Amino acid sequence: MSWKIPLADIEIGDEEIKAVEQVLRSKWLSMGEVTGEFESTFAGFLGIKHAFAVTNGTAALHLAHAALGLTAGDEVIVPSLTFVATANSITYTGATPVFAEIGGPDDLNVSAADIERRVTPRTRAITVVHYGGYACDMDAILEVARRHKLSVIEDAAHAPGALYKGQKAGTFGDVACFSFFSNKNLTTGEGGMIVTGRADLADRIRLMRSHGMTTLTWDRYRGHAHTYDVVAPGYNYRIDDVRSTLGLVQLQRLEAGNRRRQELVDGYRDMLADVAGLSMPFRDWPHVSANYVFPILLDDAARRPAFIESLKAEGIQTSIHYPPIHLFTYYRERYGYAEGSLPITEDVCAREVTLPLFPLMSERDAETVAAAVRRALTIA
Ligand SMILES: Cc1ncc(COP(=O)(O)O)c(C=O)c1O
Repeated sequence: MSWKIPLADIEIGDEEIKAVEQVLRSKWLSMGEVTGEFESTFAGFLGIKHAFAVTNGTAALHLAHAALGLTAGDEVIVPSLTFVATANSITYTGATPVFAEIGGPDDLNVSAADIERRVTPRTRAITVVHYGGYACDMDAILEVARRHKLSVIEDAAHAPGALYKGQKAGTFGDVACFSFFSNKNLTTGEGGMIVTGRADLADRIRLMRSHGMTTLTWDRYRGHAHTYDVVAPGYNYRIDDVRSTLGLVQLQRLEAGNRRRQELVDGYRDMLADVAGLSMPFRDWPHVSANYVFPILLDDAARRPAFIESLKAEGIQTSIHYPPIHLFTYYRERYGYAEGSLPITEDVCAREVTLPLFPLMSERDAETVAAAVRRALTIA
């Protein structure tokens, strides 16, 4: 299917091609100096002490939960309205994901009040997701965490560059995770970053990223070490320098890309304001969003299939962010969720449609999408 307007598209220019060529010509492809530079530049961008580049955002999330020592018998409270990786990464440690409600149709982020209702003596952590690049209410979440002595993990896959009260998303929790998958605001194809301000977690993450080994191939190549010990459980979640160099160039594009996303979202909000039959979450957003996606909610869930088909017929790709995790077969069967377990989340998930949004989109593209949305809701 070739779309007239795809859901997402990325900017890859001569800078990326040159940077990759340079790494290839250097013949050091695995994790080395360039990755170190990517990590320190990303840490500087966020204003956080430690950053570790990894294979993907899911690996970052697994490391985050594992480095916090979560294990079987522990509970982690998490939204159901997110990509399944957020919850899967909790299950990798043996801990149980406990799903919490979102704020409502205008606030698709997890609700701090609902998190607090689900705290039990087994709760060890809260994993929040900055949905679509709109930061969670971190004051309220950190307050719940403080009251119940819980760790906080930020899934910031959608939120590189997003702000909450002027501070970057990803710098509030004990640890935060970013994804650089190919449709993200900053992409390396596959890739991710785990960041923390805590030295103890940084030490564990550094080890666990590479088999729990005390030295890396790169250290040994540089003559800094000739052997190693294994002092922690570990994985191979290393990124490579080819992707890190892409990340460095993409990081330079990030803020301009986010600004462009904001202009496009402002345009959408204006053009769709008087369209009957839909609403746009995160109205009058007071913070800076990274605008990873632009979600709309149809008033009537039953109209969604025809609506999506109508846009598709005009060459416009849409998506759904997301089917609720607690209703996936695996999660129902393993953890006993059923329809009605999280009514607010289920209602929103049944009505949500994601419209195309990417920095290379023109005003004209956005107008075409808005006109198609208007037509689809008038006819359907
Ligand atoms: C909210 C969220 N968390 C985690 C991930 C996982 O990231 P990755 O695909 O890099 O493993 C994604 C990716 O789509 C995501 O959207």
